[in-house]
Amino acid sequence: MKTTKSIQIVRATVAQWKSQRLTIAFVPTMGNLHQGHLALVKAAQKKADKVIVSIFVNPSQFSAGEDFSTYPRTEQADIEALATHHVDMLFLPPVDEIYHSQAKTHVIVSELSDLHCGAHRQGHFSGVSTIVCKLINMTQAHYLFLGEKDFQQLAIIRLMIRDLNLPIQLKSVPIVRENDGLAMSSRNGYLTSEQRQIAPKLYQALCNAKKALQQSTAPFKTIEQQQKDYLTQNGFNIDYFSICRADNLLPATSQDTELVILAAASLGKPRLIDNLCLTLR
Ligand code: PAF
Repeated sequence: MKTTKSIQIVRATVAQWKSQRLTIAFVPTMGNLHQGHLALVKAAQKKADKVIVSIFVNPSQFSAGEDFSTYPRTEQADIEALATHHVDMLFLPPVDEIYHSQAKTHVIVSELSDLHCGAHRQGHFSGVSTIVCKLINMTQAHYLFLGEKDFQQLAIIRLMIRDLNLPIQLKSVPIVRENDGLAMSSRNGYLTSEQRQIAPKLYQALCNAKKALQQSTAPFKTIEQQQKDYLTQNGFNIDYFSICRADNLLPATSQDTELVILAAASLGKPRLIDNLCLTLR
């Protein structure tokens, strides 16, 4: 596996691959890799001849008071995991390779970035769309692979690619879960053993809501409230639990058929997000 900190080396390598008519997939990450990331790598390898992974803990997507300085950094283990999985190139840039000290340009996908997580994490999605746009420009891959766990992030990046005519195809990969249903996340490491026992109840609440949507005619607000109560009783502090249209993440109505239930809640300090898609007939 080729490892580089330099945009120039990424570009030169990609140009060489393209001159050989090879296809290239890109998997952006913030490191602390788990099976969810490796599922992205495997899907990317199925689709393209060459796979680039980046590890960059992006400061601009952390709001004030969030965990940028304590975000888990496990570079050596990550490098070993990616080499074992035969990734072709790892891009490991320092902050000053990515951001000009006087940078003035930000990518903002309006409206969608203000909903759900955006309402609770000031500037988060602008940070995400800016870095993903920059990384797409740096790597110039044919395919971008993102996980479905960050469902809103995925929807925002889809709009950004559409609106900015970025020459890349977005591919999404299903959530990878622990045996007890907890969605894999680098932030799960923040959970105490007691919180870890409770954490899968977030997925349980999503499953309960999905079942209620499929089997009852209860209003969506009632179903949401029932599951919010269930989570609150189990010690969660809820940011949102919303039954939405899967295409634009706005509140769903009884006419809608393609739905996603989006949830974010904290257990003490650690904050978990999860979602579940369903089709109503
Ligand atoms: O999902 C993530 O890990 C990050 O938001 C991403 C897409 C790598 C951008 O920093």
